[in-house]
Formats: sequence, structure tokens, C-alpha cells
Amino acid sequence: MIRKATFLVSNSDLTKCPKPDRAEIAFIGRSNVGKSSLINMLTGVKELAKTSQKPGKTQLINHFTIDDRWYLVDLPGYGFAKVSKDKKVKWEKMISEYLTTRTNLCGVFVLIDSRLEPQTIDLEFLNWCGEEDVPFVVAFTKADKQSKTQTDRNVKAFLNKLVEIFGDTPDYFVTSAEKGQGKEAVVQYLADLVAEFESQRATR
Ligand code: GTP
Ligand code: MG
Repeated sequence: MIRKATFLVSNSDLTKCPKPDRAEIAFIGRSNVGKSSLINMLTGVKELAKTSQKPGKTQLINHFTIDDRWYLVDLPGYGFAKVSKDKKVKWEKMISEYLTTRTNLCGVFVLIDSRLEPQTIDLEFLNWCGEEDVPFVVAFTKADKQSKTQTDRNVKAFLNKLVEIFGDTPDYFVTSAEKGQGKEAVVQYLADLVAEFESQRATR
């Protein structure tokens, strides 16, 4: 269970991110996929991360402190069409640098819209994560938006694509920020990642 979640800082400059002195877990995915909503659901703080019906709401690297112990990070979404090329390139650089250089990053939740058939942009992003050794987990979002049958079908199709790319399925969760679906399992997974990171640090 998460007992305390507070906003710490927003950055576009990696060098200004908090000192990497504790475990950190980031959330990323297409614009509007539900990253900020999922973070609010998991932490139980309704307006911790700002959400919007319009894609492109989160534009910076946002650090939150969880239980005075680890950092949770809300990242801007990728694949948002309505931004200038210049801005897009800047975001991509910022996000890819963050994901490949942040030394305390112990997990990255890549969010996938459970309403959709496999999208090339998500598969390409996950492929890139694989190449760069970014430690990712998949969370399907918005499962309340359609029938379970439809969700299961999309999840299965997506996992099949990942098997084609990686030869196996990554850890994954099916969630709904609206209904709280997946909360317990994801929160437990986060706790395990943090504990693992801390025990590795302690023995170094
Ligand atoms: P950006 O910051 O723009 O990249 O978007 P985001 O991925 O943070 O998405 P956000 O959490 O702002 O949610 C986008 C929209 O989807 C909002 O209108 C949310 O209310 C809605 N939404 C998010 N998660 C769910 C969910 O699980 N179920 C339903 N029904 N709606 C959701
Ligand atoms: Mg957001």
C-alpha cells in the first residue's frame, strides 16, 4: 500500500532531476493513454498528477516522492501528433536520455491502451526499450471502456506481437484507473521493485 505521495519537482533538464539516491519507477506511453490517471489511482491521491481529456497534458519529467522512500515519475507521452517537429525532437531526446542514463531507474511502466489493436508506435517504442536495456513492464489501461472479451482480445494480440519481437512475454497488468482494476497487483509489483533495488544497493 502507498501511504504518502507528494509532488516533488518538474524538469525539462535532466541535470536538474533529484539526486538518484533512491529507487525510481517511471510511467510512459502514448499521449492520453492514461499515465497520469493511473498514477493517481495507484497512489490514491486524486489530483496528484494532472490529467486531461486533451492529449499532451504532461510535458515535463515529473517526480513524486512515495512514502518518503522512492520516486515515481510521470513522463510526457509520445506520439502526440499536434506538436511541432522541433518540440517532438526535443521531447524524444529528453525522454530517451532520461530512460538510458538515469542510474536509479529500476522499472519503466509502458502503458498501452487496451481498446486498441497493436499500434506500431508502441511496438517500436518497446523494441527500442529492449535494445537499450530499459527495464520495462507493460500496463494495459482503460479496461473499463469495453467488454472483458474485447480487452482480452487486444491484450492477447499485443502480447503476441511482443513474442514476435522478444521471443517471450514481459510482465504485464490489465488496469482501469476508473475502476481501480489492477491496483493491488501493480502496487505490490512496485514495492517489490523498490525492495530489490534497495537490497542490491546495500550489497554493493
Ligand atoms: P498525457 O499527459 O497527455 O500524455 O496523457 P496521460 O497519458 O497522462 O493521460 P491522462 O491520465 O491525462 O488521461 C487521458 C484521458 O483518459 C482523461 O480524460 C482520463 O480521464 C481518461 N482515462 C484515463 N484512464 C482511464 C481509465 O482507466 N478509464 C477511463 N474510462 N478513462 C480513463
Ligand atoms: Mg499525463
